[in-house]
Amino acid sequence: MRVAIIGGSGIYDLDILTDPKEKVIETEYGAAKVKMGSYEDREVVFLARHEKGHALPPHKINYRANIAALKKLGVERIIGTTSVGGVSAKLRPGDFVLLDQFIDFTKNRTYTFYDDAVHVDMTHPYCPEIGKTVMNAAEMLKVKVHEKGTYVCTEGPRLETDAEIKMFASLGGDVVGMTNVPECILAREAEICYGAIALVANPAAGFTDKISYQQIVEMTKSKGDELKSLLMKSVSLIPEERKCLCKDALKGARIGELLTK
Ligand code: HPA
Repeated sequence: MRVAIIGGSGIYDLDILTDPKEKVIETEYGAAKVKMGSYEDREVVFLARHEKGHALPPHKINYRANIAALKKLGVERIIGTTSVGGVSAKLRPGDFVLLDQFIDFTKNRTYTFYDDAVHVDMTHPYCPEIGKTVMNAAEMLKVKVHEKGTYVCTEGPRLETDAEIKMFASLGGDVVGMTNVPECILAREAEICYGAIALVANPAAGFTDKISYQQIVEMTKSKGDELKSLLMKSVSLIPEERKCLCKDALKGARIGELLTK
């Protein structure tokens, strides 16, 4: 079974892999740069969402090429990391949150692989098996992870206004970021399990007078090693066989097929 890690802000490399090889994977949507290697008995593919040196801002990432490349490599599970602003007052900078829901406020992205009517179920957008695995890994490593969190995805690249964050909080958002949509959706369309660990890098807009990106970068650097250990422990604990619904996401989702039955 192949597992992929998609590294967000602060995770631009995975120096822990055995026998790492850098590759460029071509897909019909464009190319994706990956590093392939192994960890314990697992084949691992690492993809830096923003590329080295944070070359790609959220709205310039080719999400379809990334997920299509992982699919082409036979990846069945993805664990993504993402740095976020804390919307919920109970979250503090430095906290880890396992995402379980998202609310989409992006405006200008390509959300699907398909041109025909394919309506994948998104009731539970994040894979529950990966979620359980991450929580087990966290317990074993004694790393505190909030078990649930609703991620509000904005278009960016600007940060949010005070009023937007108040609205997101009133809608039930816990954290805000710019990348999980459409990454999470495309993984579901590709029938790949997707789980995400968010690192709260800063209190979201309105908790302080100004958000400094310096603070965000420093937090992602200072928590990077802990996050990597959590990721690798999760990779080693992921069950070999998938029992969740993610692997059958396309079953019954294509209207054209249903009408001809
Ligand atoms: N807003 C959006 N994305 C982010 C933030 C934020 O406050 N912090 C880190 N990524």
